[in-house]
Amino acid sequence: MDAIEAIARRRSVKRLHDPAPTEDDLRIMFSAAMAAPDHRTHRPWRFFVLQGESRNRFAEVLVEALRAQDLRAGRTTTEEALKTERTKLERAPIVVIACAVFSEDIKAPRDEQLLAVGCAVQNLLIAATSLGYGTMWRTGEAARDPVVKGALGIDESDEIVGFIYLGTDSETSGEPAARPRAFEFVEWWD
Ligand SMILES: Cc1cc2nc3c(=O)[nH]c(=O)nc-3n(C[C@H](O)[C@H](O)[C@H](O)COP(=O)(O)O)c2cc1C
Repeated sequence: MDAIEAIARRRSVKRLHDPAPTEDDLRIMFSAAMAAPDHRTHRPWRFFVLQGESRNRFAEVLVEALRAQDLRAGRTTTEEALKTERTKLERAPIVVIACAVFSEDIKAPRDEQLLAVGCAVQNLLIAATSLGYGTMWRTGEAARDPVVKGALGIDESDEIVGFIYLGTDSETSGEPAARPRAFEFVEWWD
């Protein structure tokens, strides 16, 4: 599949299955991520791959984070919410946590470094699509949570840019949702 077709075909798939991307395919996907535009080449991206037992162990981090959020907010954590949190990562055989780890640089400030990580994630999604995998980019409360950041060993001031779900899409007949027309948000300025 060429790049233009992969870009057009990429869509969010809520539930993904085995087979998971192979190590060779992950290498291609992360190589694509490394080709992202990156002002002043800070390489602000960090990726953590969750698969198998590590995915289960990370689910417990999400549960701990949820309990702490509820405690701070004075809410009771319901059994249902705990179950949802514990099983979230089961929506795909591999979940990649994409993070932005910032460097001080007046010429390539924090927002530019964040954009570079966004570009890296998009490259990864397009490469995965091109290899025939399904993908979904998710965030939510966990992406802003200090317990989750701590478990990854990143600073509280760094960002979790997304939980990137990867696997095989069984909805093979599914088409991307309708998108805006090519020039809908474009003007020729004069
Ligand atoms: C930064 C970012 C965060 C996202 N977080 C979520 C999320 O938490 N939950 C979700 O259902 N979709 C999330 N999405 C996916 C978007 O909802 C999805 O891309 C959008 O609905 C368009 O659908 P498509 O990806 O199929 O084209 C996120 C996308 C981005 C770029």
